[in-house]
Amino acid sequence: MNSQELINKYIDFFKQKGHTLIPNVSLIPEHDPSVLFTTAGMHPLVPFLLGQKHPGGKRLVSNQRCIRTTDIKEVGDAWHNTFFEMLGNWSLGDYFKEDTIKWAYEFLTSPQWLNINTEKLSVTVFAGDEDAPRDEQAAEIWQETGIPKERIYFLPKSENWWGPAGKIGPCGPDTEIFYDTGQKKCSSECKPGCSCGKNCEIWNLVFMQYDKTSTGEYKELKQKNIDTGMGVERTLAILEGYENSYQTELFKPIMDLIEEKLSGRSQDYREVSTSPEKAKKIIADHIKAATFILMDGITPSNLDQGYVLRRLIRRATLQAKLLEIEKKENVSQQVANIVIDIYKERYPNLLDKKEFILKELGKEEDRFELCLAKGLKVFGKIIDKNRKKISGQDAFHLYDTYGFPIELTQDLARDDIKIDREGFNKEFKEHQKLSRKGAAKKFKGGLADHTEATTKLHTATHLLHQALRQILGDHVEQKGSNINPERLRFDFTHQEKLSPEQLEQVEQIVNEQIQKALPVKMEEMTVEQAKEKGAIGLFEEKYGDKVKVYSINDFSCEICGGPHVKNIKELGEFKIKKEGSGSSGVRRIKAILI
Ligand code: ALA
Repeated sequence: MNSQELINKYIDFFKQKGHTLIPNVSLIPEHDPSVLFTTAGMHPLVPFLLGQKHPGGKRLVSNQRCIRTTDIKEVGDAWHNTFFEMLGNWSLGDYFKEDTIKWAYEFLTSPQWLNINTEKLSVTVFAGDEDAPRDEQAAEIWQETGIPKERIYFLPKSENWWGPAGKIGPCGPDTEIFYDTGQKKCSSECKPGCSCGKNCEIWNLVFMQYDKTSTGEYKELKQKNIDTGMGVERTLAILEGYENSYQTELFKPIMDLIEEKLSGRSQDYREVSTSPEKAKKIIADHIKAATFILMDGITPSNLDQGYVLRRLIRRATLQAKLLEIEKKENVSQQVANIVIDIYKERYPNLLDKKEFILKELGKEEDRFELCLAKGLKVFGKIIDKNRKKISGQDAFHLYDTYGFPIELTQDLARDDIKIDREGFNKEFKEHQKLSRKGAAKKFKGGLADHTEATTKLHTATHLLHQALRQILGDHVEQKGSNINPERLRFDFTHQEKLSPEQLEQVEQIVNEQIQKALPVKMEEMTVEQAKEKGAIGLFEEKYGDKVKVYSINDFSCEICGGPHVKNIKELGEFKIKKEGSGSSGVRRIKAILI
């Protein structure tokens, strides 16, 4: 069976049970700021799990692309992947435990569907605690359905509870279905839920009946929902009798490519890398995940999703380096090409975005490469100083100066050297605080005076900020400004030098706005209201306080302390004098009004 056939079967099965197919949406959650990525098929459904009506009805089915980085350390074992596809079926206040369990069993074991030997299956159910009772009911249903008592295990919340996906939201006890790979038990204690890989979890059925509130309470949901997730890669692997997901058609061509790169090479790398097998899998897994994150429009940065993307690419690059795959072989771009080839039918967007994906991968590798060799040397020195421990300060220095994400330093240090993560976090927070303070200071104190000329240039800065966002994208954020009566200086996040065409376009947009002779409007509101209004600018961390929001029609809307001109027609003509780089990932524009 191939992956598309598995997906089709699943969807057909649930369509026959009255489910509506819903689309496979972006990895970047649209309306859910509590998570960076879509980590499960239920993400796009949160409002509906909480009671809103779904246009598709009460029974839904999908195949959803997902990214999970919580298990990133596990990547390289048989079953964990950063990017994966999840098949799922949902009941929004419709069917509950009995139908879910019976249908899951039917789909897995019926000769008409997956035809898995029932002897190979075992399940876990929730053992109960102060938040919710022991799930005897699920266990009974399993027994009636065909799983004998000896293969039903009661496990605690850490194992048999799903959600909420963020800090609050819908959640509940679950029952997980495991496939026995036939491997030896890792110990006499080994059972489903053990991470050794003998039992592979293929499907999770969540009885989503609680809403976790911000006070940590579990409140019964108005409607009892079902949320399930079956891993495509894992299920495909067990159906095909493979030992891990890297042997499936979704990984095999990538692994072959990496293997090919290593063939005939000296085996010296075995000295440096913990396990070459793991390194190869990390490269394949991480570049696949990066390819999809790029497809969904994120670029590498030091923030949020961009930082995860950066980590994935850098971690893969480092593993390639440790395996002595040379930079000039462009391994990540070659891997991405294969990923695109594997998935292009299900994700035609990969083809549309191919150029962008390959370009961004190459650029990030180049950026990292610039400091990688030096960083490795510094790392060596740090280790020579102390072979047992890396201080938080040293780990932060590697991060800040050489672009080594902490996880990467951890990789290099392997398990025998401890890293002071707490110390690192402290340094990191301190640094963030300083740069926030710095940015805030620059932002507020960025005006040399309040003369008419400076005020005009200040208003022009708002127009410039918005024009840059229009031309370059919403990743553009103000990083500082410095304005005097002669000129404005504006720093913003962007990785690349702006082309003359882009500068011209920006200038043109600003001047077009000025010609519209629009008034500048100021309103006071809370930070929350400003955010809702879509204001950009620096949000101070305090909530509840009033901020000033300056808007110029619907073109620009920014939190700012002022002062500004009354009408932008006063500005005259805007001209960019210079564009250059500020610090890493920050560009700087100097401009005047004539
Ligand atoms: N949301 C559940 C999971 O991802 C089904 O495991």
